[in-house]
Amino acid sequence: MEYTVMLPAAGSGRRMGAGENKLFLPLAGKPILARTLSVFQQDPDCAGIILAVRPDERDRIREMLADHGITKVTAMPDGGGERQDSVRACVRAFMDSGSADDAVVMVHDAARPFLSRRVIRELAETVREHGAAIAAVPSKDTVKQVADGVVEDTPDRSTVWLVQTPQAFRAGLLAEAEEKALSEGFLGTDESMLVERLGHPVRVVESTYDNLKMTTKVDLAIGEALLKRQEE
Ligand code: C5P
Repeated sequence: MEYTVMLPAAGSGRRMGAGENKLFLPLAGKPILARTLSVFQQDPDCAGIILAVRPDERDRIREMLADHGITKVTAMPDGGGERQDSVRACVRAFMDSGSADDAVVMVHDAARPFLSRRVIRELAETVREHGAAIAAVPSKDTVKQVADGVVEDTPDRSTVWLVQTPQAFRAGLLAEAEEKALSEGFLGTDESMLVERLGHPVRVVESTYDNLKMTTKVDLAIGEALLKRQEE
């Protein structure tokens, strides 16, 4: 089922402490960003990639696309100060190109190179019917709500899911959610939150625990180990 993917890639990677955008860091010899892009480049259902970039990194990223044979990038809007700003830039680029409201779009963190084709497929199918679907895994740990170092609440673990990307939507629904959040000054930590605020139900597709976001040095070490295991 055809979809377009929006990849916010305009972060600074502060928590990685690499002194540059973490997406340029190599994971077993290939930059994180190139690995994520390759997943979509190789997926025949992916019709196009919209990539939000920092203006000062545009040339370096263009070179990376050429070096790794990435030909599906249709737009590279400037990212913004917050991840949500970068995603909104992608959504606007997509809608401005005259795309249909019921086209399927996915938002995926450029820093998650290990997503599976099975999850992408299930998300696209679920969105066709329901309009909104996100990748998530059941929590293996008990989760506590904490304030000032003191436990306030313990949600029933069987209802707690840890949310990842891709998050998939009908394009018109995501565009409406993004613009409403902007006009109300609401900053979410994922796109689902913005769609939930419209009152639209968001379906959950069970993903895999290895769909990690490369955030700190530990994630890089785990990522290298995962790639080594795949090669064996
Ligand atoms: O920092 P974090 O890992 O949560 O960022 C998730 C994704 O969002 C990364 O791919 C990062 O490049 C992107 N991002 C962005 N614009 C920002 C902040 C983050 O495109 N202002």
